[in-house]
Amino acid sequence: MTRVLSAVAWPYANGPRHIGHVAGFGVPSDVFSRYMRMAGHDVLMVSGSDEHGTPILIAADEAGLTPQELADRNHRVIAEDLASLGLAYDLYTRTTTRNHHAVVQEMFRGVHDNGYFVERTTTGAISPSTGRTLPDRYIEGTCPICKTPGARGDQCDTCGNQLDPADLIDPRSRINGEVPEFVETQHFFLDLPALAEALGAWLDEREATGLWRPNVIRFSQNILEDIRPRAMTRDIDWGIAVPLDGWRENPTKKLYVWFDAVIGYLSASIEWARRTGDPDAWRTWWNDPEALSYYFMGKDNITFHSQIWPAELLAYDGRGSRGGEPGEYGVLNLPTEVVSSEFLTMEGRKLSSSKKVVIYVRDLLSRYQPDAFRYFVAAAGPEAQDSDFTWSEFVRRTNDELVAGWGNLVNRTASMIHRSFGEIPAAGELTDADRAILQTAEQAFDVVGGLIARHRQKAAIGEAMRAVGEVNKYVSDHEPWKLKAPEQRERLGTVLHVVAQCVADLNLVLAPFLPFSANAVDAALGGTGEVAPMPRIVEVEDLDGGAGYPIITGDYTATPRWERRAVVVGTPVGKPAPVFAKLDAAVVEEELERLGLEVADGSAASPV
Ligand code: MF3
Ligand code: ZN
Repeated sequence: MTRVLSAVAWPYANGPRHIGHVAGFGVPSDVFSRYMRMAGHDVLMVSGSDEHGTPILIAADEAGLTPQELADRNHRVIAEDLASLGLAYDLYTRTTTRNHHAVVQEMFRGVHDNGYFVERTTTGAISPSTGRTLPDRYIEGTCPICKTPGARGDQCDTCGNQLDPADLIDPRSRINGEVPEFVETQHFFLDLPALAEALGAWLDEREATGLWRPNVIRFSQNILEDIRPRAMTRDIDWGIAVPLDGWRENPTKKLYVWFDAVIGYLSASIEWARRTGDPDAWRTWWNDPEALSYYFMGKDNITFHSQIWPAELLAYDGRGSRGGEPGEYGVLNLPTEVVSSEFLTMEGRKLSSSKKVVIYVRDLLSRYQPDAFRYFVAAAGPEAQDSDFTWSEFVRRTNDELVAGWGNLVNRTASMIHRSFGEIPAAGELTDADRAILQTAEQAFDVVGGLIARHRQKAAIGEAMRAVGEVNKYVSDHEPWKLKAPEQRERLGTVLHVVAQCVADLNLVLAPFLPFSANAVDAALGGTGEVAPMPRIVEVEDLDGGAGYPIITGDYTATPRWERRAVVVGTPVGKPAPVFAKLDAAVVEEELERLGLEVADGSAASPV
């Protein structure tokens, strides 16, 4: 048994999440974690809402709310959506907890004490009329890079570049239009050059495993070549205070959101341990060098997980060129693997909340089964290259593969057993064909499991569905519905027993992908319907006296093993209900209309 940390990217709480987000980090991390639990590993799956930084402030300004109110509202929506998708987190929390703030400050102090922060003087803005610091986002001007007017001091939304407000052309205060005055201001920079050698050695060692996706390892190694100190504090009034005298009290200096967010993996592990009543329980995932950790995200997050976060860990551990000692958390493990997906587009367009080219998770789940979406992501998602979600492909895969393939196999198996025996029949003597199909189903455990362990979920679900096809073919070839004569009854029992065993096997193999239907299929074959434990939302108190909040958690100890469980002869089997809902072809047009797209000559969608 190995300890496995499933570290899932923290969604920004600036709005509800759309299908692109959950296709990138959500479904893949859950498939992996569910499989690893079934394979007998001790999995800790953590994440939470990322509630600091400029995106939250901008959204709060627009909504007329305080940043905390906005974060409260969106954290709840996001948590409910992720739980509705069946994502089995041990803990999904948030970054505005007191626990997270304390852990981030301890990490900052550790890195600081080891000498990996350099204080630098940069230029910051103040309002000449009030003399107060003007946070970066309250300054706007023309982008120095793409020359578009209206760029914010911290970032240009047109070209996407991070900016320094002092570089804006014709800068103005967004509050009152005055020209800001630029003065010298102090910031803490993480001394990445002092950590570059250690980072390089770690990446070389990771590369040697041959496990990382080639584009992720190459990208990570490339960005090492031009490594520079990077500011880890900001002129902003929302975030975690810098835990040093003279800084702590300053309302407009906070830690950079990315410095804090990546620490969430550790703080959530600590929060989880504190909530289980064994406050040190997190340590075996973080201090034991044998423990494994997998980080799931979209490709725009790679830098932060393969450079900034490992650098923070190395600095805290005291493993850079300046040496040092680990703090109270001890020597912390670096990521085993950064598992990054590519981008999902929709109907050929970039998903964008602001341009309304978007499908929110909540809307999707109000009309379709979570497993239909999970199936699409596993089979056709952006695993190793960008992929496109189209409604016609969603309908096709749901109807042709889930309903007509797997759903049909389950349904006809349970109906035939129900009608002819009312219970799982005993098997008589097996033929070669019986043995062969049983072997196919049992082998799926090794084949599919090996692929999921290597983050090849597309190939994995392809193999599982290939086995489904073979069992369907076995049924069609053996035509059990024709075995009606009394002297054929034993043979009928044998065929149905064999098929029931194959369905039970493939149901476990598909459970990481299709957890809701796994429970339904199990129940259809007379089981308890609990082969895929589900996460739940719980309202909790803040552990350190802050405001309460909802979390996602769950008890996954009943997870079955990744191996054949013999079906039990005599188990009653009732009349089955269909597991998957067949989608009407009209869905495609309806959905395109909702998006303001129309079907042009039956093929590609085009803007109205
Ligand atoms: N909030 C970031 C995003 O949505 C992801 C943060 S991942 C974390 O892109 F680990 F840093 F939290
Ligand atoms: Zn620009």
